Amino acid sequence: MTDQPKVLVASRVPVDVAARLARDYNAELNQDDEKYDRERLLAAADGCAALVVTSSNKMTADIIQDLPDSVRIIATVSVGFEHVDIEAAQARGLIVTNTPDVLTEATSDTGMLLLLAAARRATEGNQLMREATWVGSPLDFNLGVDLANKKLGILGMGRIGQALAHRAAAFGMEIHYHNRNRIAPDREAYAGNAIYHADSDSLLEISQFLSIHSPLTPETRLFLNAERIARLPDGAIVVNTSRGDVVDDEALIAALKSGKLRAAGLDVFTGEPNFNPAYRELKNVFMLPHIGSATVETRNGMGFCAVDNLDSFFAGKGPLTAVT
Ligand code: 8YV
Repeated sequence: MTDQPKVLVASRVPVDVAARLARDYNAELNQDDEKYDRERLLAAADGCAALVVTSSNKMTADIIQDLPDSVRIIATVSVGFEHVDIEAAQARGLIVTNTPDVLTEATSDTGMLLLLAAARRATEGNQLMREATWVGSPLDFNLGVDLANKKLGILGMGRIGQALAHRAAAFGMEIHYHNRNRIAPDREAYAGNAIYHADSDSLLEISQFLSIHSPLTPETRLFLNAERIARLPDGAIVVNTSRGDVVDDEALIAALKSGKLRAAGLDVFTGEPNFNPAYRELKNVFMLPHIGSATVETRNGMGFCAVDNLDSFFAGKGPLTAVT
């Protein structure tokens, strides 16, 4: 018997994080990353005081309602938490924590990667090299567009949006943003002296590049639809490192086909790991398999942040980064 709190870790976590959990908790790990369906998850949660989950573990209201009474805290190893039904968790008095800050740099780096790759036609260039079909470099070969001196619109100016602004400003872009609130004055210089747009339409109208950083909420679901794409300047480039569901795939695909949009860079997709197959046919789309935060340092940092939350909670000091 142990008096360490019992913790179910429902997905694989980085080895050092797993080692710390195994040392400090009565941890049931899932390093084989087996998929837990509802019944299996509920059975495994028996007697647990905490659950550590990732966005692969859909914590629906139906599951949360049936969790054993022993469960007091759910720590998700992600900054986004739309996979956890927060209302249902609140109704049961459960604490939910996420992992902000630690993934800001890695995810905004990915945003830059998408901006550059979309602007510079990396998909086409890469394909030529992979297929060994590169035959020469006339001056008009595979021309992209510059980032410098272009207007970048950032939709959602939280930590990651600000970090992208910081990076893009160093590439010579003029930064604009829309957010519920203006960023704090002491963040403006860091965020490339970004220009605030109180309404999103005004941001869309000037965004030669648009980068989406809004969390997925009922208000942002399918935000970038045909009508809003039409407001973007002709030839705009759209990148998304937030959530696929913020974009209407059909509308984006139509605009990429028609030439209304020059290109897109996407790290996130509706229905992932599945995604709309039409994207695969489009040379002007650069795609990544949701690797925004996927660096060794960052994934460790995310895992440790989740464990720090458990440590603090079980030490009676409260969670560190609670979303409820
Ligand atoms: C995660 C993410 O890696 O943190 C988030 O919200 O989207 C990614 O950084 C992914 O959700 C795995 O849990």
